[in-house]
Amino acid sequence: MWGVVVERKKIRLAVLFGGRSGEHEVSLMSAASVIEAADKSKYEIIPIGIDKSGRWLIGGDPMAHLSNGALMLNTPQSTQASTLISEVMLPLAPSREGTLCLEGRVIDVVFPVLHGTYGEDGTVQGLLEMVNVPYVGAGVAGSAVGMDKALMKSLFRDAGLPILDFVVMKSKDLDNDPDACVRRVENRLGYPCFVKPANGGSSVGVSKVNQRDGLLPALELAAHYDTKIVIEAAAVEAREIEVSVLGNDNPTASVPGEIIPSREFYDYGAKYKDANSQLIIPARLSAECTRRLREMALTAFQACEASGLARVDFFVHRSSEAIWLNEINTMPGFTSVSMYPKLWEATGLSYSALIDRLVELALERFAEKSRLKTSYE
Ligand SMILES: Nc1ncnc2c1ncn2[C@@H]1O[C@H](COP(=O)(O)OP(=O)(O)O)[C@@H](O)[C@H]1O
Ligand SMILES: [Mg+2]
Repeated sequence: MWGVVVERKKIRLAVLFGGRSGEHEVSLMSAASVIEAADKSKYEIIPIGIDKSGRWLIGGDPMAHLSNGALMLNTPQSTQASTLISEVMLPLAPSREGTLCLEGRVIDVVFPVLHGTYGEDGTVQGLLEMVNVPYVGAGVAGSAVGMDKALMKSLFRDAGLPILDFVVMKSKDLDNDPDACVRRVENRLGYPCFVKPANGGSSVGVSKVNQRDGLLPALELAAHYDTKIVIEAAAVEAREIEVSVLGNDNPTASVPGEIIPSREFYDYGAKYKDANSQLIIPARLSAECTRRLREMALTAFQACEASGLARVDFFVHRSSEAIWLNEINTMPGFTSVSMYPKLWEATGLSYSALIDRLVELALERFAEKSRLKTSYE
């Protein structure tokens, strides 16, 4: 496969975007940045859009189609086949070339620029493993754990990382005995607390609860998005600090950055609808706090078996600089103005060099895995 890459000189990079997730639109923005910035002397980009119903679209301009919603599918009668989109039927097994082959073209690497469910949660990663193609980012387990706030926190706790106390419940518990659910939260955490769907992102379904009468509505809201709910003690007087991590077995951490949300907390509106949330890079923190954050970000990355990239998010107390780890994101927002690439830029790695490094890491991990035996000899 490496030979093929060298012969063709350019790496054929399939960029996957859109998808069946609440973060479909965010993914379009991230992928548009990647496609624009990737070095065209190194890569032949194959854009692949996934629409909200899960259809994979290739050919023509799937980005334009997904962005404006007007989908013109290629049919056998179409005359301008090259400008129209076709639906890809994904193979379940590697092609004759031993890897993913789409419309007669061998794909060298896939960059799944997908956020949230069916993209960042191990499902698409499993599919890419099945067809034996290298891909950017965490594998199946790392992606799944990084998506599930309850599993993630258990691993962080095992690794000795500081996290906020939490309670996990099922939406069924809520149906069966809502009063018992309220008691569990009050006995363990009290108010204020945060209620979140275990598998989510972009703050969808996340609420801050200040007193008893807000708790049940918040639990019910979270239950719309997942059957598992995480309730967490609130970090008070806390700043939101994020660190970017890059690498496989020997990852490196960027300088930390701070988010100043434009609203009471960094909810969906503050993230995407209003431009007043600010990024401060590097975050103004003591040297010791910065050092600890970078070290913890690496520990969190390894605890979750992430690879390639991840953004690790913290709360830091305003006066004492006490640190709590909030979460890891294995496919963080990736537009050229997003925190993840901005932190690398401030650490000395440009956006397009970052794409190069991620592709290299994907190929390295794939080569390493390919050497493993798959049967008993
Ligand atoms: N325990 C907490 N204490 C204080 N603020 C919180 C807490 N949990 C979440 N938040 C706020 O809610 C936002 C979204 O929560 P988060 O757990 O990061 O979910 P998501 O995966 O949707 O980003 C955070 O960026 C922060 O502003
Ligand atoms: Mg978050």
